[in-house]
Amino acid sequence: MTGLRHRTSTGGAPQDLMSDALRLLLVSSELTPYAKTGGLADVVAGLSRWLGKTGHQVRVVMPLYGQIAHGGYDLHEARDIGRVRIRFDGAEQEFGAKVGELPNSKVPIYFVDCPAMFGRDRIYSSTYGDEHIRFGLLCRAALEFCQRLGFAPHVVHCNDWHSALLPLYLRTLYSWDGVFRGTKTLLTIHNIGYQGQFGGKVIDDLGLAASRGMFHQDDLSKRNEVNFLKTGLLYADWLTTVSPNYAHEIQTGEGGRGLEATLRERKDSLTGIVNGVDYGDWDPAHDKHLPAHYSSADLSGKAACKKKLLERFALRQDGDPMVLGIVSRLTLQKGFDLLPDVLPVVMRDERMRLVALGSGEARYEDWFQWLRDQMPDRVGIYRGYHEELAHWIEAGSDAFLMPSMFEPCGLNQMYSMRYGTIPIVRRTGGLADTVVDRDPVSGKGTGFVFERFDSHALLDALQRAVRVYREPGAWHAMMLAGMAQDWSWDRQGPRYVDLYRRLSG
Ligand code: ADP
Ligand code: GLC
Repeated sequence: MTGLRHRTSTGGAPQDLMSDALRLLLVSSELTPYAKTGGLADVVAGLSRWLGKTGHQVRVVMPLYGQIAHGGYDLHEARDIGRVRIRFDGAEQEFGAKVGELPNSKVPIYFVDCPAMFGRDRIYSSTYGDEHIRFGLLCRAALEFCQRLGFAPHVVHCNDWHSALLPLYLRTLYSWDGVFRGTKTLLTIHNIGYQGQFGGKVIDDLGLAASRGMFHQDDLSKRNEVNFLKTGLLYADWLTTVSPNYAHEIQTGEGGRGLEATLRERKDSLTGIVNGVDYGDWDPAHDKHLPAHYSSADLSGKAACKKKLLERFALRQDGDPMVLGIVSRLTLQKGFDLLPDVLPVVMRDERMRLVALGSGEARYEDWFQWLRDQMPDRVGIYRGYHEELAHWIEAGSDAFLMPSMFEPCGLNQMYSMRYGTIPIVRRTGGLADTVVDRDPVSGKGTGFVFERFDSHALLDALQRAVRVYREPGAWHAMMLAGMAQDWSWDRQGPRYVDLYRRLSG
């Protein structure tokens, strides 16, 4: 596979750095630290950094959103790409590329510089009505960049619906180019709840009129609909999702959101891989955001972080308080509909504190605000997105709440374990694969897990947690068990490399 020599390449690692190095292109709508609304950004950054560190030739393509262009990053014009003009049937789009290096790595990030499409203050902008063009453009730009850089990827790794049209483009508009002769595609489903569904007429806008027959015909004829994610499921050479349990769930009527039949047809090319954690960013021993540091050998810094967190929200410090933490997008997925029946009951205990950070649907934000108004000296909330605060809550809380209705993988439960903050989770998706329920007899376990999506089950898990918290020895043992867990990319990354090799071999 290394014999393939190609046109000159720019930036990043030298060609054939390692004798069996893979050439990999990752395409994503989000990447930490540039643009993030959720775990996707952390996962693509962590995987790319690890792949670069282990000697592979990795490049990442993502949009140059307004927040990145004006974010003070060290980016320069990618001259070997120049200006690209492509015809979408309705209009012509022109764009260029800026290039930068992923922090703490040598991985080049190519940003699609198209202010008309991406120069907005938000990452996603469905109200503009051109989301299909924006992300169709992302797919095409990624391939155009490869052509101009002479970069012949062994694997193009697409993520979620935003880059799910790329495998189809590769099989149609770009199939003529020898640079892609050995290229295979992998599509990772981070969340099947977002599929990128549009009216059938967008096929023309996307420059795919001649390939109309390659879209799912029933969707077109019965609903006049194009589904980006489903198209990716049909044409990617391999599919992954972010935990083995979720790989199973999405093949069922309950979890597949209408894509279960397509996924069952492709089950032999579907692998579940639990996300890795970038402990460079998420470890209390050296987390740059924290007011104090700690490790399992000396937990005193955790007590300091807890004190600071309570101070920051002006919450009472008296009476050995137990702090529950929440950091989340506030959407139906996250299970917060269970809270109104449960938290007021749990919070009756004067020793309980709650600190929640989140943004999303107003009904959840309003409910948290209501709870805070009821007990302003014991409940703290922050509405919005706040990176530093997310780290403070992981470190300063005793337990972390994730009652998700569904959860493809979830990162915060893994971050929590590393921070000695015990997760209280529902047994779904990746939460089931990563958190072990405490056994009341042996005391073994890394969290409190409940099964049914109902408030009684959540209340029971919370009450179990509160009881164990009041037995310091037992709680401490659980903290240590969680802190010893290893979900690093060193452990999870090789699973992707195995797949890339199998595909390109
Ligand atoms: P999802 O991707 O479904 O949102 P994950 O658990 O995989 O769930 O990842 C969520 C990521 O987003 C975590 O890194 C978490 O800290 C972060 N996050 C979520 N909401 C916020 C917020 N309001 N402020 C800061 N970080 C947040
Ligand atoms: C999605 C999922 C989350 C997962 C993340 C990264 O947004 O909701 O469970 O951890 O992607 O894969």
